[in-house]
Amino acid sequence: MKNNITRRDWLTGTTAIVGGLMFANGALAQSVTIKGYTPTPENPIRYSANENPYGINKAASIAMTAAHKYGHLYSAGGPKGDLIELIAGMENVPTENVMVSGGSGEILKTLALIVAMEGGKILAPLPTYDDTFMDYSDRRGIEKIWVPVADDLSIDLDAIEAAYTDDVRIIYLCNPNNPIPTVMHAEKLRDFCKRMSQKCYVFVDEAYYEYVTDPNYDTMIPLVTEYENVVVTRTASKVHGFAGIRVGFGFGSPKMLAKIQSLMTGSINGPAMFGAIASYKDKEYMDFVVRKNNEALQVLYDLFEKHNVRHIKANANFTFFETGIEIEEVQQRFLKYGILMSRAFPPFTKWARISMSKPEDMKYFAEVYEKEFVNS
Ligand SMILES: Cc1ncc(COP(=O)(O)O)c(C=O)c1O
Repeated sequence: MKNNITRRDWLTGTTAIVGGLMFANGALAQSVTIKGYTPTPENPIRYSANENPYGINKAASIAMTAAHKYGHLYSAGGPKGDLIELIAGMENVPTENVMVSGGSGEILKTLALIVAMEGGKILAPLPTYDDTFMDYSDRRGIEKIWVPVADDLSIDLDAIEAAYTDDVRIIYLCNPNNPIPTVMHAEKLRDFCKRMSQKCYVFVDEAYYEYVTDPNYDTMIPLVTEYENVVVTRTASKVHGFAGIRVGFGFGSPKMLAKIQSLMTGSINGPAMFGAIASYKDKEYMDFVVRKNNEALQVLYDLFEKHNVRHIKANANFTFFETGIEIEEVQQRFLKYGILMSRAFPPFTKWARISMSKPEDMKYFAEVYEKEFVNS
């Protein structure tokens, strides 16, 4: 039996049983690699939500299954301390600078709540990740100052600094950015954070950190030990495939983290933390996911280069390309073939964000693209 399971199946836990379950629910991730599956408008491949097409790894799955036996205990036998220690060790910061949450979105929303309570505006690039933090802050009536991305579509830190006004409470920087997966130059961003955090909170969202290939990139986590107003978030939702399981991390000064924690209303799932411990220890799996992501991206780069399509060399599990057609029409034309695209990201409504699936799925996407948008 064991011999019939490939190394990849073992790593990802994608056995026939898992595949069978996927058929039962059209909302679950789909792939042309699943035997018998055909993409349809009703049950499309999700190129839309920046999820991990390989799912959670086997080690995490085993750890979470085993942890069910602690499910009846508040705090589930206490894995939080171990998880914080593990992450603090990986990032080389003291444990007092790290917190865990139910997905990083919980921290994003709480930061918006802090702005709502303390007053002031949000200063951010446009476009950027506009769910969660932005969404939640819209609902709190918080005003934004939007600063367009530069001509090369990267975040323009000089323009953001120039747009700062005394009533800005927080600057939000997503690095790599989403939906346009560019990165900011590490030295420039570091100086920016040091300077601007004397005036307001500076929040750096590093949800796609693990996928970065640009050598000019660096994490801003080390700053939190010295700069009280700098906050960084990470998530297990992407490279670890925990989007539905919900584990995220905040990095900040003890004062900042205490403020965030005092306002949070959620609680963190115990088995999920056991799973995260197993997953973050499994470097082999992370390397596998990143390698496959790069293979998937390469399929698209080849396609876009062949047809002279403007696109971004991605530092994430998605990229952004020019369609020249309004996104609503693009979505409909792709959906006919069972390809679910992302929504519009104004003002770039004639561009599309596409999330990576498996390389085989990207080949399917490329075939459809050529059939529908090149040869039709
Ligand atoms: C930039 C960015 N930040 C945060 C999140 C939220 O992630 P989580 O699942 O940790 O709440 C996402 C999710 O797609 C994201 O793209």
